[in-house]
Amino acid sequence: MDCYASWGGYNDRMERDIAYILIARDRIERRVRELAREISEVYGDDSQGLVIVPVLSGSIIFLADLIRCLPFKMKIGLMTISRYRGTSTSGGDTRLIQDLNVDIRNRHVLVVDDILDTGNTLRLVRSQLQQRGPASLRVCVLLRKLAKAPKDVLAEFVGFDIDDSFVVGYGLDYADHYRNWPDIGVLRPELYT
Ligand code: IMP
Ligand code: MG
Repeated sequence: MDCYASWGGYNDRMERDIAYILIARDRIERRVRELAREISEVYGDDSQGLVIVPVLSGSIIFLADLIRCLPFKMKIGLMTISRYRGTSTSGGDTRLIQDLNVDIRNRHVLVVDDILDTGNTLRLVRSQLQQRGPASLRVCVLLRKLAKAPKDVLAEFVGFDIDDSFVVGYGLDYADHYRNWPDIGVLRPELYT
């Protein structure tokens, strides 16, 4: 859904803060469709009873688009992890804010997250979910900062590998803003340095 084109000047307040668009909405859309196909092919018959666990809040837009391209029944289990304290763009604790609300024992589980950066978030999510005895556990991230992503934290499905710059939009935030920006853009560094 693309609303901005017909909106005139209202979007310029976010636009002003974006240095440049890294991945435009039409490229995101094409890749999300491909990812859904990859996921469907890997799960095959195992898609029965699949539980999707989005890591809130960064995955919300990606999740909404991705699951509407997946043609089988699924449940959504919610859990909230937060990494950043305040407005810092690096460091900070990774904490479990709200625990999972669906039983995943003997279920195939697909975790959906916005970005694999240091891997701390997904390491925590994986270990939390593994303890509950899922039949399988896989991870799908929209973005991966390839240079930084540690070798021990695997994502089976990756939308785009990107360089190590701070990006916002399509669910990704800076200080909880810009999640509703429809493209993925690099934030002007002077806004956080
Ligand atoms: P990790 O734990 O370092 O892998 O970071 C994962 C979380 O940090 C993501 O789910 C995001 O919420 C946040 N994050 C990491 N890099 C960025 C970025 O470039 N823009 C916005 N959020 C980011
Ligand atoms: Mg975030």
